[in-house]
Amino acid sequence: MAVTPRTIGVVGAGSIGASVCADLVLHGFHVVLVDTVPTQLDRAREVLTEAVRFGPMVRPGLPRLDLADALAAVRFTTELEDLTGCEFVVENVSEHWETKRELYRRLDALLPAEVGFGVNTSSIPVGRVAAETSRPDRVIGIHFMNPAYLKEAVEVMRGDATSQECLDDVLALLSGMGKETIVVGDFPGFVSNRISHLFFNEASRVVEDHGVEPAVVDEVFRKCFGHLMGPLETADLIGLDTVLLTLESLHDSYGDDRFLGSALLRDKVASGRLGRKTGEGFYTYRPTP
Ligand SMILES: NC(=O)c1ccc[n+]([C@@H]2O[C@H](COP(=O)([O-])OP(=O)(O)OC[C@H]3O[C@@H](n4cnc5c(N)ncnc54)[C@H](O)[C@@H]3O)[C@@H](O)[C@H]2O)c1
Repeated sequence: MAVTPRTIGVVGAGSIGASVCADLVLHGFHVVLVDTVPTQLDRAREVLTEAVRFGPMVRPGLPRLDLADALAAVRFTTELEDLTGCEFVVENVSEHWETKRELYRRLDALLPAEVGFGVNTSSIPVGRVAAETSRPDRVIGIHFMNPAYLKEAVEVMRGDATSQECLDDVLALLSGMGKETIVVGDFPGFVSNRISHLFFNEASRVVEDHGVEPAVVDEVFRKCFGHLMGPLETADLIGLDTVLLTLESLHDSYGDDRFLGSALLRDKVASGRLGRKTGEGFYTYRPTP
């Protein structure tokens, strides 16, 4: 007997949301993908196409799917109401507190109490989000890295109110996506970004203050430290707007000026040079043919 695929809601189809959607589809889930901006949904179709074509080549073990089947597994929509019927929602809207707060209020009013919310944030504590809902026990942090379908592990943040049942459900969901999970506590930036964003910011300052080429900064990290990617190419992949919003959020939380975004980073964001997603950041990118 055929098993009905499970349907997961994904809200926000930007850099990470599109990639989480692709990861879910590659692992046999159906997805309702919501974004308020239709062109972002068009881009998410391209990300899914690329993931189906190249994902299994880059990460052996990822299943090979028929592209038409993969595209048919996603409902691309601008309407939040289309999430009705999803068993779980992964939220990936911009790293801006008021945007997230307004969205969680709407999601909470729309969806039954048993539906859990996975907060894919770079810095906002899960407890702060959970407090905006009537189901704090069903709210948990899931920090995917980009591109989600090529990464083997996910950082999971358990809030004070997150129930054991919710944690178990999410660990099972992530296991179904072929992920290892690392559960950490609930503090701004968590383990990954409290550390990495200082690193991105200082790398930007090394370019700004000392005229070092971005490629040289990254080469030191790749060749000397053995990192797969250097800090500036990683920042470009994340999106420099998201990096700057995350630094601002960490600065608000900790009041520590080390999190004040460098002038170069702010200048790049102000001029729309956001990294891979706009074709230019610390590096220049050509579109994939
Ligand atoms: N970029 C990464 O590598 C990465 C990794 C992990 C977590 N995150 C976190 O994920 C979230 C998204 O980051 P991003 O880099 O993809 O940002 P992004 O700016 O690329 O995309 C955000 C998307 O959210 C959409 N959006 C905004 N408000 C919305 C709403 N009310 N309803 C539906 N869609 C809405 C925007 O149109 C946009 O497409 C942030 O909280 C970020 O901190 C990002």
